[in-house]
Amino acid sequence: MYTQSFNVPDETGQRTVKTVAHTEPPELMAKFDARIDADGRIEPQDWMPEAYRKTLVRQISQHAHSEIVGMLPEGNWISRAPSLKRKAILIAKVQDEGGHGLYLYSAAETLGTSRDQLLDALHSGKAKYSSIFNYPTLNWADVGVIGWLVDGAAIMNQIPLCRCSYGPYSRAMVRVCKEESFHQRQGYEALLVMMKGNQAQKDMVQDAVNRYWWKCLAMFGPPDADSPNSAQGMRWGIKRISNDDLRQKFIDATVPQAKVLGVTLPDPDLKWNEERQHYDHGQIDWEEFWATVNGNGPMNKERLATRVKAHNDGAWVREAALAHARKQQQRQQKEAA
Ligand SMILES: [Fe+2]
Ligand SMILES: [Fe+2]
Repeated sequence: MYTQSFNVPDETGQRTVKTVAHTEPPELMAKFDARIDADGRIEPQDWMPEAYRKTLVRQISQHAHSEIVGMLPEGNWISRAPSLKRKAILIAKVQDEGGHGLYLYSAAETLGTSRDQLLDALHSGKAKYSSIFNYPTLNWADVGVIGWLVDGAAIMNQIPLCRCSYGPYSRAMVRVCKEESFHQRQGYEALLVMMKGNQAQKDMVQDAVNRYWWKCLAMFGPPDADSPNSAQGMRWGIKRISNDDLRQKFIDATVPQAKVLGVTLPDPDLKWNEERQHYDHGQIDWEEFWATVNGNGPMNKERLATRVKAHNDGAWVREAALAHARKQQQRQQKEAA
């Protein structure tokens, strides 16, 4: 799973600022604020301001959609994995992502929304998911690079979410992060093996890194100066670290890994800054980011069409499960009578 800071507005458009309406009852609001200030958890049965609820539904559902859509680019490679070992690992990883989506849909449902509503928003194109999945996976090295960089970026974003103020979300993230860490390592290990191979294999890895590096940096979301929702998210204990700080942490952790691997990160401005004790980096193409978020990336239509088809193809399974549940209930009622 995955993220683009999970605070981009759904529908098209880029910027909205959510603030707490003044109509919220002051006593309840004071209790809620005190719980947040004490770093306590808000649980589904607790009172919460509507704006907090809405922000969480949007963030958790975008996260869930990202997990589910994130199965698609790698799922394409299951039948083409180069060995039985790689195939088994990839199947397990893609299955994990499906599991992450299910935990997160369940967490969103505790806020009073339904699975059908969430899926309708995804399938109709209203809801957002991480833009990174709207790019194609062109060669086998893409699978390794997705593990190393995309899951790596996801971990940076998601570890702070284990301390998120909403209980069900924070608890789901604990398990998700453990699995993401396996995803990151398997990707890096697959690339290490390729980098010990022939020139064609090394070129594939470099090509995949070139295509994915900048998109992974954009996954952390717009710069702090352009993220009006962030301050409120921080106040509510939903967001703990800013987009730019997370991006910096990711870059600082990844540069030494790239050196060990023997690949070049495609940014001529990437340099260690002795004074800041961080790496400086070049400009991210935010126009491309917003174009992709708003539906115009290379794979948006295909990803959504595949997702809708899978949902429709699975209708008979859902209907059969419901019919079975109804029959069981009738049988129990008969036996009880
Ligand atoms: Fe995941
Ligand atoms: Fe993952």
